[in-house]
Amino acid sequence: MKTIKELEDYAQENRIPIMQQEGMDFLCTFIAEHDCKNILEIGSAIGYSAIRTALANPQSKIITLERDEERYRMAIENIHDFHLEDQIEIHLCDALEYTTEEMFDLIFIDAAKAQYIKFFERYEHNLKPGGHIISDNLEFHGYVEHPETVISRNLRQLVKKIKKYIVYLEAKDSFETIFLKIGDGVAVSHKKSQK
Ligand SMILES: C[S@@+](CC[C@H](N)C(=O)[O-])C[C@H]1O[C@@H](n2cnc3c(N)ncnc32)[C@H](O)[C@@H]1O
Repeated sequence: MKTIKELEDYAQENRIPIMQQEGMDFLCTFIAEHDCKNILEIGSAIGYSAIRTALANPQSKIITLERDEERYRMAIENIHDFHLEDQIEIHLCDALEYTTEEMFDLIFIDAAKAQYIKFFERYEHNLKPGGHIISDNLEFHGYVEHPETVISRNLRQLVKKIKKYIVYLEAKDSFETIFLKIGDGVAVSHKKSQK
């Protein structure tokens, strides 16, 4: 059986972006404290955060989506090594095309940063009232707060899109969002119960 440390080392050696330690610890505590049972993750990479999430609440069931075939295959292998096939269901797909009728307690967005608004809009209806959407990388290595340090044009466009997502979350009436300076910057959006 592999260890969590081995997954972290593999990700680092192979430049696979996984959630930073602080953000990951926050997510695990959140899941345990809120007893999140049905979870949707957008962006599995090699399955690291899905595995940590499953271990954080053994009662939880996670659907995770990944569009990169090599990472998807690696995630399947890792999920198998941790004997978590009953808890984690992984799909090789573009999250902007996947559809489900399931309702979730928590949706975790950790995929292409430029698409965050689209992910949110596609899946917000699959979130139970009172549920949460957690989005990672909203500080994007400090560039969002200090865009003047960005040299590349592509990166500047990406930072603009993350800023747009932040403004979108702040303006969204049906949700209440808090922004936390944890890891690479995490937003927790709480879906208000309908009156
Ligand atoms: C930051 S990594 C995910 C890390 C993972 N959540 C973890 O912490 O272990 C983002 C992943 O999202 C995937 N991705 C990006 N856009 C996607 C999309 N539209 N649909 C599915 N997967 C996507 C990428 O291939 C990449 O592997």
